[in-house]
Amino acid sequence: MDNMQQFQEKYLSEIEAVIVRFLEEHTSDQTLKDSMLYSIHAGGKRIRPLLLTATVASFHKSMTLGVYQTAAALEMIHTYSLIHDDLPAMDDDALRRGKPTNHKVYGEALAILAGDGLLTAAFQLLSLADLEPDKKILLLQQLSHTAGTAGMVAGQAADIQGENQQLTLDELISIHERKTGELIRFAVIAGGILADQTEEIIQLLDQFARHMGLAFQIRDDLLDVTSTTEVLGKIVHRDDALAKSTYPALLGLDGASGALKDELNQAYAVLDELSSYGHFDQSLLASVVKQFEIRGK
Ligand code: IPE
Ligand code: IPE
Ligand code: MG
Ligand code: MG
Ligand code: MG
Repeated sequence: MDNMQQFQEKYLSEIEAVIVRFLEEHTSDQTLKDSMLYSIHAGGKRIRPLLLTATVASFHKSMTLGVYQTAAALEMIHTYSLIHDDLPAMDDDALRRGKPTNHKVYGEALAILAGDGLLTAAFQLLSLADLEPDKKILLLQQLSHTAGTAGMVAGQAADIQGENQQLTLDELISIHERKTGELIRFAVIAGGILADQTEEIIQLLDQFARHMGLAFQIRDDLLDVTSTTEVLGKIVHRDDALAKSTYPALLGLDGASGALKDELNQAYAVLDELSSYGHFDQSLLASVVKQFEIRGK
C-alpha cells in the first residue's frame, strides 16, 4: 500500500532506533536491558507512533527528533502496558507479538521490572527530548494523564475488576476508553501539539482520536474471537477464558462489528471536518482508519 507503506517504513524504524539507543545508554543492568529490548524488538504494529507521526504530517510539518522522541516515549509506555497485561496476575498470556511473553522468558520479577523500567524511561526520554520547554511540559502533562491513574492504568484496573461481571454498555465503554483509548488519544493530540495547532483543531483531533481509540479496542475484542493465534501473534479466545467484559460478549459479533463500523464512520466524518481547514490533508489518517476496518491482522 502506496503512500502509507512508504510512510511507515521511513519513520517507524527511526522511532525504534530512538528507543533502543536510549535504553542502551541509560540502563545499568544487563538483564533488565535485555528484557526491555526483547519486548521492544518483538515488534508490534506500532499503531500509536504511526498515528502520532501521521497527524504531524497531515499538517505538512516535517518530522523532527522531538517528534520521534515523543513517539518513542509513547511506544515504550504501550510496550510496558503489554508486558504487565500479560503477567499471570493479569491476563496470564503466553504469547505476545508472535513470541513468548516477557515473563515466560525472563521470569515474573524481571518482567515486572522491565515494565517499570520502560515506564520510567519513557518519561525520562520525553523530559530530555529536543523540544521547546512549554511544549515539552504540555506533552509530559498529557502523557502522564492519559497513561496514568485516570487513563490507561485506571482502565486496566476496571478491566480486571470487570471479569465475571455483567457490565452495562456504558461501563464497558468507560473501560475501553481508558485502557486503550487514552494512549491512542495521546498519539493524536501530541501530533497536533507538535504541529503547533490551535485549541480548536486539537479539540477536533481529540474527537477523532476518541472514535479511533474505542474502535481499536472493539476490533481487538472481535479479533480475539474471529482471528487466529498465527495472524495475531497472541493466543486467541483468551477473553472468553478469562470471562472478560468485551463488545462481542455484550453485543454479539454482529453488534460488535456494527459498533466498530459506527466508530470508524464517525472518525472519517471528523477527518472531513478537519479538512475544511485548508492546511490539513486527511489522506494519511484516513488510511489508518481504513487499516482499522476488520480484515485479519
Ligand atoms: C494491544 O495493542 C493491546 C490493546 C490496547 C488492544 P496493539 O494491538 O497495538 O499491540 P501491538 O503493539 O501491535 O503488539
Ligand atoms: C489491553 O487490552 C490493554 C492494555 C494493555 C492497556 P487487552 O488485554 O485486550 O490486550 P491484548 O488482547 O492482551 O493485547
Ligand atoms: Mg487485558
Ligand atoms: Mg490482555
Ligand atoms: Mg484483547
